[in-house]
Amino acid sequence: MRARRMRSAVAACVAAIGLAAGRAGAADTGAHGAMAESAQQARLDKLLPPTPMMPPAALAPQLWEALVPADNEPTPARIELGRKLYFERRLSRDGTLSCSTCHDVSRGFTDQRPVAEGIGDQLGRRNSPTTLNAVFFQTLFLDGRAPSLEEQAKLPILNPIEMGQPSREATMANIAGDPEYVALFQRAYGRPPNYDDLGRAIASFERTLVFVSAPFDRFLAGDDQAISAQAKEGWTLFNGKARCVSCHAINLSNPIGTDNRFHNIGVSARHQNFEQLAQKALGVLKGAQGQAGLEAIDRLALETDMSELGRFLVTKDRADIGSFKTSQLRNVGVTGPYMHDGTLQTLWDVMDHYNKGGEANLYLDGGIEPLALTETEIDAVVALLFSMTDDRLAPDNRQQEAKQRARSRTTRPFRDEALAMRRVLPFEARVMGVAEKGR
Ligand code: HEC
Ligand code: HEC
Repeated sequence: MRARRMRSAVAACVAAIGLAAGRAGAADTGAHGAMAESAQQARLDKLLPPTPMMPPAALAPQLWEALVPADNEPTPARIELGRKLYFERRLSRDGTLSCSTCHDVSRGFTDQRPVAEGIGDQLGRRNSPTTLNAVFFQTLFLDGRAPSLEEQAKLPILNPIEMGQPSREATMANIAGDPEYVALFQRAYGRPPNYDDLGRAIASFERTLVFVSAPFDRFLAGDDQAISAQAKEGWTLFNGKARCVSCHAINLSNPIGTDNRFHNIGVSARHQNFEQLAQKALGVLKGAQGQAGLEAIDRLALETDMSELGRFLVTKDRADIGSFKTSQLRNVGVTGPYMHDGTLQTLWDVMDHYNKGGEANLYLDGGIEPLALTETEIDAVVALLFSMTDDRLAPDNRQQEAKQRARSRTTRPFRDEALAMRRVLPFEARVMGVAEKGR
């Protein structure tokens, strides 16, 4: 229902833009309100040097070695090819979408929408995470179904509601006939264009998107003036009363603040009867293995209500029902809305969610409990989170902070003081209540 209403609103918007700009305007604006690819590239030129230094200066060389596969050293030729492909609309079936439609340079490399919108205005089930710092994750996608950036990049192109290509061959037909690409592939990998090298090249470009230099880092390095007193108070809470550190440890060897594990923090429990969904998913995935199995999971995750099963789709382990990968905390100031389903609009909403102990369900992670944080304490953690945005994105970060703050003054849909302060329903009673309803 919500999806349909949003789609028609978006359609009206696109129609309005179409009318204003005329058909010829299509080259100047990206699909679904994204910035045009050419303008995004110009913006990227300001964020990255023409030949990005590898490994990035912000990182210890040992850390970097672990992030680069032996057969895909990011050479300048590979990065150049990958960058061109990232902004290439011919990768989508109808030539309207590129990776950068949903991972838009001007929007924190996301689409800043609750869930992604693919070809033919089709809405998926999941929020587009940022491609910034994706290189640091041990697994990719919110349920970790892809083992590497190389494998990840090959999936959205073939997903029917993302870029919609019918096959690898059909995708390459658009690319391999273009002499410029033939030359670029040859220089990058020493052979004609092929789908696996396309994945490798895009991954090489993504490895340049290291954005981990923020006021917070200067504070960690000993500059006491780098962040506000309020953010410092947030850091104390982060590592103490608010318990964020138990999943989001963030330090020099783990600069993005994820434990690379999967937890049910009670986001998906808002909509679902997990038992029924799990049975249904097991039926659909039966016998699907290897690449076909991966593509089957990709479709369930993006197109069906089974999306909410999260990591369970990958492991088929009941303990993983409703669990998702611990998000990175880098640049969260500019990558809202939040969580795998994009249901939390502001970082204040995120704090309200944690403060009341998430949405009770039988698979809730043991680390999620009401936190009894006061409003002042919530503001402090939010201030800390905004200090983790890379300096290059500081103007956007300031703008989003002001916007979110204004919204939080009037709209706090997930705030529940009584639960947060443990005045009603101890945890046991909440879970038992859920179990009763489930029978
Ligand atoms: C229609 C919008 C859309 C398009 C087009 C798209 N993506 Fe995504 N991307 C998403 C969504 C949604 C997810 C999360 C899906 C999930 O986790 O199940 C995602 C996840 C990712 C991730 C994983 C990030 C993480 O934190 O694990 C990377 C990397 C990524 N996309 C890169 C790309 C690349 C490269 C392309 C082009 C080949 C691309 N995307 C095209 C919407 C899109
Ligand atoms: C038990 C582990 C756990 C704890 C404790 C935890 N988180 Fe998370 N966090 C996660 C997981 C898992 C996700 C992704 C959930 C999803 O997408 O549905 C997440 C997502 C987030 C996001 C959303 C990021 C995005 O881009 O969508 C933010 C922000 C966040 N956490 C901040 C915090 C803060 C602040 C705290 C402390 C108050 C905290 N987390 C405590 C596991 C945890």
